[in-house]
Amino acid sequence: MSLTNKDKFLEVAVEAALASSDLIMEALSQPKIIDRKGKTDLVTKTDRASEVLIKSIIRSFFPSHRILAEESGFNNIESEFLWIIDPLDGTTNFVHGYPSFAVSIGLLHKNIPLISVVLEMPNIKLYSAIQSEGVWCEGKSIKCSSTKRLINSLLTTGFGYVHEDLWEKNMILFKHFTNLTQGVRRLGAAAIDICHVADGKIDGFWEYDLKPWDTAAGILIAKEAGCIVSNLSGNPYDIRKDNNILIANPNIYDEILNEIKSI
Ligand code: IPD
Ligand code: CA
Ligand code: CA
Repeated sequence: MSLTNKDKFLEVAVEAALASSDLIMEALSQPKIIDRKGKTDLVTKTDRASEVLIKSIIRSFFPSHRILAEESGFNNIESEFLWIIDPLDGTTNFVHGYPSFAVSIGLLHKNIPLISVVLEMPNIKLYSAIQSEGVWCEGKSIKCSSTKRLINSLLTTGFGYVHEDLWEKNMILFKHFTNLTQGVRRLGAAAIDICHVADGKIDGFWEYDLKPWDTAAGILIAKEAGCIVSNLSGNPYDIRKDNNILIANPNIYDEILNEIKSI
């Protein structure tokens, strides 16, 4: 993989994320047209429009690449290159005008994350990463925190739309970690949660019941920033199999994992 290729992939991912964020920000002040995928799992006209736009930009540059997008699934192309798109992460926040939502675009090559872009809104922050070359927020290099003990840490998590066993389990963990740390936040956009660990605002993130589009871009951003990324059993995170994830700075990763295992 030449550097030129990687730069071109990143340029296209950024172009698609910026175009989509213009569309989403424009729609923010308009009445929302909402459907439901589940009792509380919302999808808006904007999620769908953002996805169509991102896919059309990617397709115009790389027509032979495979794409997986939240609202439309896989395209019918076989390729070593796979773009994974969350056209609007944090839909519930977007619907309510709560300030934490994003566009997330990750490119994998032979299942290895190669390029990532997460565009945080409405306070625009562009996170990007290139495999083995670095990670940036608004063009400035970022790294994870160096907090050494759980008692000095701030964590974040999320809760999926299915209110069954994993959801109950996470309620218990939420209480457990709130007692062991300086606090646990729940913002409602997993891609942003992960970027906040990468740039050191937050020391660790875990969640059950995530989909590939929630994590595809974030995992490279986190790794390039020096975080440890695993599933909740402590094994390397595999985007094809794992629906749970733990991301933390290396100093407190073991402490978090041991607490999760103890519950
Ligand atoms: C959701 C958000 C939320 C997480 C959920 C996701 P969506 O994505 O990332 O933070 O807790 O598990 O489904 O539906 O807003 O794209
Ligand atoms: Ca999502
Ligand atoms: Ca989404």
